Amino acid sequence: MRIILLGPPGAGKGTQAERITNDFKIPHISTGDIFRYNIKNNTELGKLAKQYIDKGLLVPDAVTNKIVEDRLSKDDCKNGFLLDGYPRNVSQAESLEKFLANENLKIDHVLNIIVDRDSLVERLSGRRVCPSCGATYHVVTKPPKIEGICDKCGEKLIQRTDDNIESVLKRLEVYEDETKPLIEYYSKTNLIRNIDGNKPVNEVYNDIQALIGDDK
Ligand code: AP5
Ligand code: MG
Repeated sequence: MRIILLGPPGAGKGTQAERITNDFKIPHISTGDIFRYNIKNNTELGKLAKQYIDKGLLVPDAVTNKIVEDRLSKDDCKNGFLLDGYPRNVSQAESLEKFLANENLKIDHVLNIIVDRDSLVERLSGRRVCPSCGATYHVVTKPPKIEGICDKCGEKLIQRTDDNIESVLKRLEVYEDETKPLIEYYSKTNLIRNIDGNKPVNEVYNDIQALIGDDK
């Protein structure tokens, strides 16, 4: 099963991706996570990506496309994969299409998670993440058992450097200008399905399962 998760910043892509990939036993490929891993480890890629991410801008396509192609060429992607946060503009979508066509592969589902703008801002402002295991929390809707501490590994939680209000607003603007046109792009292939992401996490997941569950 090959899935693309579309949706604005804070739509719940990462949250739903974790469940889908556990269920379908396919790798979760998040370009944002790959960049953050490289930033944490101070690699050359990390240094470059940080300049864009902190400002809420997209990392250049040539860099991002190459990372995804390398990742999709790994053995664990042979039985499928889930892309979270990629493609993010039409040029990336075209690049992915070319790559997959060369490999004789096709995307099965494009899931577009839709959430109200006010909720997106609330979700991102209140999000806390574990720098060690990557678990995601929210100060109001999904607080950890002990304030500021990861339930899973005991690490101190942090706020992502791009979850400040200035970067959040920029990310939403970039989404409108560059990523939203992908909805039309994938409508042409009849692959896209809209998901109401305003519902509670479990309900959103039930809706996703209803759409893709039979393909397992
Ligand atoms: P990326 O990491 O992809 O961030 P994003 O797209 O902005 O999305 P988020 O990860 O912020 O949100 P999400 O949809 O995963 O929501 P989550 O599940 O965490 O990208 C970051 C940056 O990297 C980009 O700005 C760019 O600079 C760069 N980049 C990445 N990919 C790129 C690409 N392809 N090309 C170029 N540059 C790229 O949930 C959010 C919060 O809401 C959490 O607190 C969660 O607990 C809560 N929540 C989730 N679901 C619900 C629900 N149903 N109800 C209530 N609360 C919920
Ligand atoms: Mg995410």
